[in-house]
Amino acid sequence: MNAAEPASTGRASVKPASTDPASTDPAVRDAVLRLTTGVTVLTTLHDGRPHGSTVSAVNLVLRNPPILSAGLRGGAVLTGLAVAAGQYAVNVLTHRQALLADWFANPDRPAGAGQFERVGWESDPDTGLPVLRHTLATLVCRLEDLVAVGDHELLLGRVISARSGHGSPLVSYGGALYGTEFHDVARRRGWRAPAGASGTGFD
Ligand SMILES: Cc1cc2nc3c(=O)[nH]c(=O)nc-3n(C[C@H](O)[C@H](O)[C@H](O)COP(=O)(O)O)c2cc1C
Repeated sequence: MNAAEPASTGRASVKPASTDPASTDPAVRDAVLRLTTGVTVLTTLHDGRPHGSTVSAVNLVLRNPPILSAGLRGGAVLTGLAVAAGQYAVNVLTHRQALLADWFANPDRPAGAGQFERVGWESDPDTGLPVLRHTLATLVCRLEDLVAVGDHELLLGRVISARSGHGSPLVSYGGALYGTEFHDVARRRGWRAPAGASGTGFD
């Protein structure tokens, strides 16, 4: 897809929030905050105008072919530019890059090139997209589709190139950002409960 071939916009059948009591239920709010996600900055470039936006709602939808979804509020500047450009990059932040997460979410940051002035970035050699330096990973995506979901939009992008860096991920959990430290956990791959065993054994 490119600028001459706009994204097809599907629409998921999600009712407006005002009609859904779960939207204001504190138990639901607290529970969804317990979903841990990484933190990314989506970057794009159209007509000489670069832009970056912080997005934690990024998921791998499909590994083969590699398709990522990114959920942005309707009317986000990033979405308009990414649709026009037909491409964007997903910059996965490390725990050292929380300030970048705040910067690319700041409504008062300058528009266009000004928002990259004090940020370490370079041009992706194949696409010309601005990509951030020192990230945990960078995935360059071609926009495949745009799906409206309530008052948000899901960008579905096919990964066309990627590279990995070093460090540990910046994560969003419980409404805050954290660095991470990984440790091993007990697992039993392929384990089957013995016949006649009572209880699940998983509590
Ligand atoms: C840690 C963090 C995660 C965020 N995740 C999202 C997200 O997943 N979707 C979204 O629409 N906005 C998210 N935001 C807010 C956007 O970054 C912010 O509204 C941004 O300015 C909107 O982009 P725009 O400049 O393209 O309009 C997040 C902000 C922060 C600080």
